[in-house]
Formats: sequence, C-alpha cells, structure tokens
Amino acid sequence: MRRAAEILRAGGLVAFPTETVYGLGADASSAAAVARLYAAKGRPASHPVIVHFADAEAAFAFAREIPPEARKLAKRFWPGPLTLILKRSPMAPDLVTGGQDTVGLRVPSHPVARALLREFGGGVAAPSANEFGKVSATTAQHVRGDLEGKVDLVLEGGPSEVGIESTILDLSSGKPILLRPGQVSRASLEEVLGEKIQEKNSNSPRHSGGLERHYAPKTPARLVPPHALDAEVAKLGLDVAVLAFSKPDERVDYWIRMPRDPRTYAQRLYAALRELDGAGCGAILVESPPDTAEWDAVRDRLQRACR
Ligand code: TXA
Ligand code: MG
Repeated sequence: MRRAAEILRAGGLVAFPTETVYGLGADASSAAAVARLYAAKGRPASHPVIVHFADAEAAFAFAREIPPEARKLAKRFWPGPLTLILKRSPMAPDLVTGGQDTVGLRVPSHPVARALLREFGGGVAAPSANEFGKVSATTAQHVRGDLEGKVDLVLEGGPSEVGIESTILDLSSGKPILLRPGQVSRASLEEVLGEKIQEKNSNSPRHSGGLERHYAPKTPARLVPPHALDAEVAKLGLDVAVLAFSKPDERVDYWIRMPRDPRTYAQRLYAALRELDGAGCGAILVESPPDTAEWDAVRDRLQRACR
C-alpha cells in the first residue's frame, strides 16, 4: 500500500479494485498524472473523470457548493457505489472535470480502495480500468489483459462485488438528475431526498457512459426478447454465443446462463460478456431482462453493449 501511494505521488498509475469495477488511478491534483491516465486508456481528454476519496470531508473539499442533499446522500450511501456531481472548487483541476464547471466525487467502500486512498491522502482520479469503449474490468486479470505495460501497479482485490459502475447523480443544477443508474437505485435516492429525480436530458453534463458504443464487446451483440430467442438461435446456429436466463440450447457451444436476481446478474455481467466475446463467434445474443425498475442498471449496460 505504501508503494502504491508512492507511485501515485510520483505521477504514476495504479489500478485498484473498487466494489463496482476496477479503477485506473492517478493523482487528481497532478495534470501530468491525469494526462498519462487518459493516454493509457486511449480516452479523449474532454471526458471528465470521477475523483475518489477516503471520506466525505476530503471529497467535498473538491466542491465549492455543497447542497444539504449532497450531505444527506453521502451520510447514507458513502462509502459505497454512488457518485455525486457538484460544482467544482479550485482544487479540482480542468483535466479531471473535462473543462466543465462540475466534478464527480466518490467514496468507494472496497477495503483495498479505502486503504489506498487513506495512505495516499488526496483525491485519486479513476475511470474504469479497461480500454476506452470496452467492457469494464471486474477482476485484476481483466485489468492486466487490457492495460498490461501501461500501468505501474495492479492491486489485487478479488472480483468486484457490485459488478457494474456506480450510480451517478448530478446535484449541480438545483434539481437532482440521474446520469447513470447503478446499484444505488433511483427509489432509494428519492427516499433519502424526499423528492422525485429527473431523467437526464440533452442539457445534462457530458459523460462518456452516454456514448452509444460504450461498454461494448468487440463481437456484435444484440438484445433478443425471451420469446424470440429460440428462433434466433435456430437461424444463427453454431456461430453464436448466448447470454440468457434459460437453460443452454444444445445447438450452441457458448452459452452462459444468468441468474434471475438483478444483483447477482450485475455482479457476473462483465466477466460473462468478456468470456462470450472471447469465443470469437459472429454474434452475441442477449436475452432481454424484465422491464422493471430493479433491472434499470443492468438494462442500461446491456443496451449500451448491444447495437
Ligand atoms: O463505479 C465507478 O464509478 C467506476 C469506479 C472505478 O469508481 N468508475 C467509472 O469511471 O465508471 P468512468 O470514467 O468509466 O465513468 C465515469 C463517468 C463517465 O461517464 C464520466 O463522463 C462521468 O462519470 N463523469 C465524471 N465526472 C463528471 C462530471 N463532472 N459531470 C458529468 N459526468 C461526469
Ligand atoms: Mg468506463
């Protein structure tokens, strides 16, 4: 942990586990370190990056206005898989905000992330530790596969428990806006806030998760309603890999059966997509999840992974 913090202080890159997905970390106060991070990921510098902290007090130092709603949510959900967008303070450099007037703040709960953040002391800018535009990494092995040679150290922390990226809530405009659904649900946020949360619209801040082809495997993937799966499989035969709730079909070599519980589904999702992608088939078929609120976050990622 001491070595990891030293690498960060020297402007290096440390990949680390969080409860959502693995992050690729750099000292958020160093323009040079953050620039290296963008280069390693192959990510455009105009995209803002989330800054990670050991506690809420350190996080809020990066914001210049802290609405009471932010404190309430931090008290309830931090440390944990929630990112808050607030108006930036001078401590948040241009490179982490993508030149915008806001900054994304998060206090992760994974013990390895917390130990690193405590040891380092400052804010750690960290996008998901995958190649830009690809499926996020939920194990240290995924990270090494994607970023070998481009990162100074990979901290091992087992498979990420949540499995999909944090919920992002924008509190910078007076009205709360959900920018990315996650395990912290809209309903649980509304319960704490005591008000309805708006849908994101075109005026919302830019975020790369909003790009259409984000979170996508290399193999073309398609969502298929449960009733149509059999016919689609019959059409494509051996050249297809399938992610489904139902039992494997004998005609298909690569079939991953997913759980009907949305939390467990989310936990396994990216590893499953990476595995099916690796099968080298002509297509990936994904059985659509139920159209209910508890599947919002998973449905969001699947819609982005599919074309
Ligand atoms: O769970 C997570 O949030 C993971 C782990 C590593 O913490 N991180 C993550 O980072 O998903 P990344 O860079 O892959 O996605 C961050 C999202 C992007 O869509 C980015 O545009 C958005 O957060 N974002 C960051 N700062 C923002 C800001 N100031 N305003 C609007 N969106 C912002
Ligand atoms: Mg990402």
